[in-house]
Amino acid sequence: MKLKVDKLGFSYEKTPILKDISFETNSGEITCLLGPNGTGKTTLLKCISRIIPPSSGNVLVDGTLINKMNTKELAKLFSYVPQSTHTAFPISVIDTVLMGRVQNINFKVKEEDKEIVFNILEEMNLNNIAFKNINNLSGGERQRVFIAKAIAQQSPIILLDEPTSSLDMKNQLETLEIISSLVKEKNIMAIMSIHDLNIASMYGDKIIMLKNSGVYSYGNTKEVINEENIKQVYGVNTIVKNMDETTYTFLCKQ
Ligand SMILES: Nc1ncnc2c1ncn2[C@@H]1O[C@H](COP(=O)(O)OP(=O)(O)OP(=O)(O)O)[C@@H](O)[C@H]1O
Ligand SMILES: [Mg+2]
Repeated sequence: MKLKVDKLGFSYEKTPILKDISFETNSGEITCLLGPNGTGKTTLLKCISRIIPPSSGNVLVDGTLINKMNTKELAKLFSYVPQSTHTAFPISVIDTVLMGRVQNINFKVKEEDKEIVFNILEEMNLNNIAFKNINNLSGGERQRVFIAKAIAQQSPIILLDEPTSSLDMKNQLETLEIISSLVKEKNIMAIMSIHDLNIASMYGDKIIMLKNSGVYSYGNTKEVINEENIKQVYGVNTIVKNMDETTYTFLCKQ
């Protein structure tokens, strides 16, 4: 499967947020979306999945315009892990993950759905909190529950908005390992916004760096993550070192 974002633009009222965003990504790839706060990463993920419709440009999946698809088709195509996972409903962890199956089951739970949910809960080490109310979880636990829900959906495209922002170092790596093996083994595609350049370098096949509403740099890690680009985009000094196939970024005191 190929996803093509073609000259996508978006404005809130008259304020342009995204201008002329173009890139392509394929099944089996993780694309990482980098950029300072407020550059439009969340907005771009929402535009790609039509949670909000773009103001201009197109998104195509295997050549088909997604604005021609109905809500059900879109829900089958995309799963989405939001940046903020607060919820008002006092619902359990297991029911939250099961909600990921909704578009496949017409609200009637089958054995297969239960098995999918149980497997994900186990894989993500959420078994011990399966029956807890999600409003009573830590921020990191809640974040992993919403990732589990998106995985349960088994869609060919998964969009993750800062999926590891509340996770400790071990949980960051374990969660990204699960997402990465899912992408490679099930041949799905992932687009993930992230602030941790090292995690982006470890798991991203392609990197997109946003600045001033547009794509500042796009390519593989070594092309995009370098001291000059980071200085231009984030306005900070760093030391960037390539070791064992990974590009490591060290933040310097300014
Ligand atoms: N509902 C809204 N109405 C008006 N402006 C908005 C709305 N949501 C976001 N914005 C603005 O759009 C811009 C892009 O926001 P967005 O949330 O996409 O940034 P981001 O790159 O995800 O930032 P962060 O790294 O902080 O998550 C910001 O300037 C923000 O203030
Ligand atoms: Mg955001």
